[in-house]
Amino acid sequence: MKIVEICGSPKKGNCYSVLNWIQEQYPDIDFKLLMLNELKLENCVGCYVCVNRGEEFCPLKDDRDMIIEEISAADGIILASPVHVNHISALMKHFMGRIGFLAHRPRFFDKYFMVLSIGGGFGADRANEHMSGIFSVFGLNVASSLELYIATEEERSLPNNQKKDNRSR
Ligand SMILES: Cc1cc2nc3c(=O)[nH]c(=O)nc-3n(C[C@H](O)[C@H](O)[C@H](O)COP(=O)(O)O)c2cc1C
Repeated sequence: MKIVEICGSPKKGNCYSVLNWIQEQYPDIDFKLLMLNELKLENCVGCYVCVNRGEEFCPLKDDRDMIIEEISAADGIILASPVHVNHISALMKHFMGRIGFLAHRPRFFDKYFMVLSIGGGFGADRANEHMSGIFSVFGLNVASSLELYIATEEERSLPNNQKKDNRSR
C-alpha cells in the first residue's frame, strides 16, 4: 500500500513530526512525504484555461503535475496543515487552488484521504472541515480526520497559573 503525505506547514515542525510518527507506526506501508514548502508551486493567474480547455494547457510550469502523479499512484493521501489564523495554512490553500480544476472534473474515486490539522488552541476543526469538503469535491473519499492541539515551547515551560495570567491580560 502506498500513502502520500502532503504537508502544508512552512517548516519541519509539528505537522512534520506527526507525519513521521505515523510512518513509524506502519513500517509495512510505503509512505511518500511531500513538503509543499520545498516544491515549486506558482501562483494561479485565474485564467480559467485549466477549467475551460484542460489542465494540460495551464501556462504555469511547476510541480503541480508531479503531485497529481503521486496522488494517482497512491492508495491514500494524508493532508496535514497547521492552523494559521483560524484556518488552513496559506501553503495548503495555495496547493488546493493549483488543483482547483478538479472541482469541475473530479477523479480519484478509489482513493481515501485523511485530514490532519494541528493548532495551538483553536481552529483545527474548521481547517479539517475545509480540507475534507474540498477534497471530497475533488472526488476522493474522506476516511478520517484528526485535530491536534500542541502547546508551543513557551507555553509548555510556563506553570499553569502563569499561563492563565498571561491569557487574561
Ligand atoms: C501565523 C500563525 C498563525 C497561527 N494561527 C493559529 C490559530 O488561529 N489557531 C491555533 O490554534 N494556532 C495557530 N497557530 C499555531 C500553529 O497552528 C501551531 O503552532 C502548529 O502546531 C504549527 O504547526 P507546524 O509546526 O507544523 O507548522 C498559528 C501559527 C502561526 C505561525
